[in-house]
Amino acid sequence: MRRPIVAANWKLNGSLEMTQTLVSAINSHSANYDSVDVVISPPFPYLIKVAELISTNNVHLGAQSAAEYESGAYTGEVAAVMLAEVGCQYVIVGHSERREYYGESDEVVAAKFLQVQQAGLIPILCVGESLEQREQGVMQETIVRQVNTVVDLAGIAAMQNSVIAYEPIWAIGTGKTASPEQAQEVHALIRAEIAKQSTEIAEQLRILYGGSVKAGNAAELFSQADIDGGLIGGASLDAEQFNAIVSAAS
Ligand code: PGA
Repeated sequence: MRRPIVAANWKLNGSLEMTQTLVSAINSHSANYDSVDVVISPPFPYLIKVAELISTNNVHLGAQSAAEYESGAYTGEVAAVMLAEVGCQYVIVGHSERREYYGESDEVVAAKFLQVQQAGLIPILCVGESLEQREQGVMQETIVRQVNTVVDLAGIAAMQNSVIAYEPIWAIGTGKTASPEQAQEVHALIRAEIAKQSTEIAEQLRILYGGSVKAGNAAELFSQADIDGGLIGGASLDAEQFNAIVSAAS
């Protein structure tokens, strides 16, 4: 039985005030749910504050990215070891917005994944195809390439302490969710790809769905055999919506 994860990705949103109200609302709700891991990923300046505010073992701290280097002359970057030091347990790597707007290639994403793992943190590796790739029939090879670039660098054993998030780019922030069947198909594909190297690791691997998950569609998505929770953007900024999504996963 895989324990579901519901991870909030605040992206470039928030304030100290919002951090206080949102985390309090998530704490009091999530304390009721022992069967789900909740992750809150605020912008970097709020990490320590969120760490202080978290008041239940069911809620964990996550970051939205980490550098592909451990230290050095890389102005503006944040190292995974620093994230570990301030209490993070999870780090999102390879989000499509990082790939698209900041030019992160599969290789850079793999290097970041490795840094995160070496710092003792759990990477949430995002993969997903664009609408164009889906329409051109290269969805499967895109996903497999994104997954395997990481597995080739980090090794299959690294997937034991990892999470994958399938996020079709055309569904992120667009209100267009993949249907439960469309999502399930890709989740099964990812699990099968990992199973080629280790069925045991594939069985344990938690694969989240992300892309316009809301209170209204979460339960149906999470009921699919290979969907083990969600990575939530827009709806994670609204305590009521987010809490309803956590309930749907539990
Ligand atoms: P969304 O974002 O829920 O706003 O679609 C999901 C994500 O980008 O992780």
